[in-house]
Amino acid sequence: SAYMPPLFSLGYHQCRWSYFPEARVREVASEFRKRSIPANVMWMDIDYMDQFRVFTFNDKHFPDPAKFNADLESQGFKTVWMIDPGIADQPGYFVRDELLGLTSIDTKAGGAVRAPSGEAFRGGVWPGPCVFPDFTNDKVRQWWAGLYKNFMATGIDGVWNDMNEPAVFETESKTMPEDNLHLGGLYQSAPDQPAQTVTPGNHARFHNVYGMLMAQGTFDGILGTNPQKRPFVLTRANFIGGQRYAATWTGDNSATWNDVEQSIPMIINLGLSGQPFVGPDTGGFAGNGPKDEVERADMFARWMGIGTFFPFYRGHTARGNIDKEPWAFGPETEKASKIAIDRRMVLLPYLYTLFHEAATTGVPVMRPLFFADPKDVSLRSEDDAFLFGDHVMVVPQLMPDRSRTPAMSKGLWRKFDVVDASHAALPTIYLKGGSIIATGPLMQYEWERPLNPLTLHVALDESGKASGTLYEDAGEGFDYKQGDYLLTAYTATATNGQVTVAVGQAEGKRQRPNRPITVIIHGAGGNTVLTGTDGQPITGKFTP
Ligand code: GLC
Repeated sequence: SAYMPPLFSLGYHQCRWSYFPEARVREVASEFRKRSIPANVMWMDIDYMDQFRVFTFNDKHFPDPAKFNADLESQGFKTVWMIDPGIADQPGYFVRDELLGLTSIDTKAGGAVRAPSGEAFRGGVWPGPCVFPDFTNDKVRQWWAGLYKNFMATGIDGVWNDMNEPAVFETESKTMPEDNLHLGGLYQSAPDQPAQTVTPGNHARFHNVYGMLMAQGTFDGILGTNPQKRPFVLTRANFIGGQRYAATWTGDNSATWNDVEQSIPMIINLGLSGQPFVGPDTGGFAGNGPKDEVERADMFARWMGIGTFFPFYRGHTARGNIDKEPWAFGPETEKASKIAIDRRMVLLPYLYTLFHEAATTGVPVMRPLFFADPKDVSLRSEDDAFLFGDHVMVVPQLMPDRSRTPAMSKGLWRKFDVVDASHAALPTIYLKGGSIIATGPLMQYEWERPLNPLTLHVALDESGKASGTLYEDAGEGFDYKQGDYLLTAYTATATNGQVTVAVGQAEGKRQRPNRPITVIIHGAGGNTVLTGTDGQPITGKFTP
């Protein structure tokens, strides 16, 4: 099943193709803090490289990546940097020379993918003519993993593998010819599984797994460099099994209403296909959006609003477009965007619990609405409204003119929120009767402070009961595999106008923090707020 991502990667990410020089990245990062709009990660697209050569830095625009990363870290930002598979075919460039000279592999082309002639295949990508690592081979993946040592040593927190279908500009198929040759080699599906031998074959056979195998090599490289940390990799191409190594995004979308809508079923389908950690380019990659500025701003706000509930939440856009940071569309859109990201940050404990569920059972984080009631046929084709875990139903109004009404699951659902502000462009959220979800304090970035105080949102079912779990661990590293986690099942029971919220069961060796708890009972007649201490029963009168 899916890997457990580092907690930082579940916050809001800010990206753009053309954030350079580094002063521009610093400016955008500072702007988030100035405006109190939470953000966890700043992204570096190909602009940081020296002539688009991977594992190099442009010394004019990014002269001191280590200092740059450290400075951003001190403002509470992690950084993710892009690495593509196309290696500039320039003699003297170390990555290319190493690849073609891999002596452990007995071909004329070293570890590169070969044309039918046996020579290294050459295809054009960003740097011009490129050669491509043959990731089907274990020795090539090992070499590739080794490249990350010096790269990550600059304080990089995650890697973005793009163009790994692999994209090739001049061919009609926009990828490699199907008769290119791959080496194959040893393949281990998991560290505890025996290695299997994959026989050599042509590109037609390996095309669909090329991107995943690149992501695996990258994952291993990051892990080899920082064994105490959970790797974060985002990959454009992936395959079943790739959820063990990387998150995926839905590629180059456009700033259109159609693509806003499509982002929902695309994520749901990928989730149902075993990849829970997915999201779109929020705000639209290609283009600026509708001509009308009011409509354009509204579209951006609605995209930010649904993004809150997408497993991967990143703003991104292409070079040459207008600015698309949350404040770029004026105060009204900034307000909506801030509420959207605030919601995300407050919901992190619940979201992290959903990722734990995905990692242990395979159930997706974002789910189709029909999961709520498989017998209700009216929900089966609904793809505006969706579930965020089992307990929360998200009902967006994607059409600003409200010309379409999303279906909703019947039964007891309480309209609620996790922040004290609202905006018409944002989705309405409902808590399922019988549910408890845990939320945290509003932070500007995920490691700003501990999960304290804890808030439990409760919606009782018809018989006055509710339950829900919270998964907590260090948010990073692998100590959780040795039991350093806390999985708490909270329960609520109501009788005679009194409700009691308590810890039903708890699992794991991690100590329960000594922290206050706020319980909010969402009743038909209003909310009741009770306070107490985590681990001890909290009892009080409530409004049903
Ligand atoms: C590809 C990616 C896009 C990126 C661009 C430049 O189009 O999909 O996200 O910004 O390349 O690297």
